[in-house]
Amino acid sequence: MKQAVAPTSVEVFFDPDDIIVSKTDLKGRITYANKVFTDICGYSEAELIGQPHSIVRHPDMPRCVFKLLWDTLAEGREIFAYVKNMTRRGDYYWVFAHVTPSFDAAGKVIGYHSNRRVPDRRVIAALAPVYQQLADVEAGHRNGKDGLAASARHMTDFVKSKNVSYDQFIFSL
Ligand SMILES: Cc1cc2nc3c(=O)[nH]c(=O)nc-3n(C[C@H](O)[C@H](O)[C@H](O)COP(=O)(O)O)c2cc1C
Repeated sequence: MKQAVAPTSVEVFFDPDDIIVSKTDLKGRITYANKVFTDICGYSEAELIGQPHSIVRHPDMPRCVFKLLWDTLAEGREIFAYVKNMTRRGDYYWVFAHVTPSFDAAGKVIGYHSNRRVPDRRVIAALAPVYQQLADVEAGHRNGKDGLAASARHMTDFVKSKNVSYDQFIFSL
């Protein structure tokens, strides 16, 4: 159902006291969206349910960040990440996301859950150029798989150069 929307240069914001919440099934299809989410993205809950979460993907986001997200979730672990998302109109909003697997009583992963807060502006100012570099690395490869591998390496090397883990890096920002 997603139309080809052109990204605008308009940034939109949500309240620092609010949390954008969504849940997905194991394939990343949305199973729940709270009002803060529907208000900011411009899609109704009915429009979101069943759609892939990439419905709010912004083209500026490097693919390697989502690879890390899915690789981490596949290991049953939580991940924190800064994400630039796109609304129905093409506007953008930054979030600081905490994404976790949801487990059933037997400990089996049955879906995923994401809570997002308003990010610190200084962090976004520092991180946006890094994301741009990663996206440029991806765009510099004709083959998407090679581009993703190269940007994932670039991201790992960047974090390593700080002598910390990814989690430590994110919380050092
Ligand atoms: C719980 C959960 C929440 C997600 N939230 C977002 C999100 O807010 N924005 C986004 O672009 N991708 C989000 N993703 C990742 C998407 O599933 C997808 O991997 C990403 O948008 C890249 O899509 P693409 O590979 O089709 O380009 C989320 C995934 C999960 C499991």
